[in-house]
Amino acid sequence: MLLTQDPPRAGHEIDPAFRRDILDGLSHIPKATPPLWFYDRRGSELFEAITDLPEYYPTRTETALLERCGDEFAEAIGPGRAVIEFGAGSARKTPHLLRAVDPAAYVPIDISGDFLHLSSRALSSAFPDLPVLPLVGDFHQELTLPAAIAGQPRLGFFPGSTVGNMEPDAAVNLLRAMRRLLEDGAMLLIGMDRIKDERRLIAAYDDAAGVTADFNLNLVARINRELDGDLPLDGFAHRAIWNDDKARIEMHLQAVRPLHFHVAGQCFNMAAGETIHTESSHKYGPRDARLLLRAGGWEPVREWSDEEGLFSLILAEAA
Ligand code: AVJ
Repeated sequence: MLLTQDPPRAGHEIDPAFRRDILDGLSHIPKATPPLWFYDRRGSELFEAITDLPEYYPTRTETALLERCGDEFAEAIGPGRAVIEFGAGSARKTPHLLRAVDPAAYVPIDISGDFLHLSSRALSSAFPDLPVLPLVGDFHQELTLPAAIAGQPRLGFFPGSTVGNMEPDAAVNLLRAMRRLLEDGAMLLIGMDRIKDERRLIAAYDDAAGVTADFNLNLVARINRELDGDLPLDGFAHRAIWNDDKARIEMHLQAVRPLHFHVAGQCFNMAAGETIHTESSHKYGPRDARLLLRAGGWEPVREWSDEEGLFSLILAEAA
């Protein structure tokens, strides 16, 4: 595998947005940090490992749907669109979709440039005639699409249930921003994880091999490395809980004893048992999912789900 440089070390360049988000999050009551900061190189690798875990059903369920329903995508979406993928990562699911919809161009967007460029190169060799135009960036911020796709109708592709990371109000705002970015005539194919048996959900976020725990704890290591932190790695335990009221899995880093630490020159304390809420993963019933899309300016037109109803892919049109 091609590896690029290590992330900046303490004392070198500090990402001001990372610094601000972590200092704000640790100052907040209760402590909470945005999940986008999980995905440094190690975090992206750990997430890839999560997607292979026996307990983590979303990726393999969604990939099977993409594999199996190609003809129906072709029929419902048609050829010649520019496919814009939000949060492309390693983009392992994408070839199935691209084969089905015969697009005019492919624009993968991801915050991790390393992963994005590796996967873009792989896709280019698999689809030699397809213009692949990677965009490094945070899709929660204002983006400008490449000029090369001007005038082409768009298909937004937002797989993986990434929308589940957002609070419903933020999810609606993001869907509306996508609606504006993709313009009239656009379609959106979005993956959403369903509400299901609580034990099944918790197992998916607290796997027996401890990969999800490592993924969560990697944030502590990243804060120490990049923000001159001294958080004790053995002072935190991974917790995954189902919040039934809000229909979401929450991941927390729980202090196993009273903690005192520093980040970027600021002091923080945690009582034993206190947590940093590091991620929410909202789950949606079928009607919840359609309501969310409509609130975001998208009219659902078709839906695909596995036999157990674990996960769904919804196709919507710009309203
Ligand atoms: C990438 C946000 C869809 O919420 O299931 C996996 C991230 N966190 N295990 C999810 C994640 C812990 C994942 N998303």
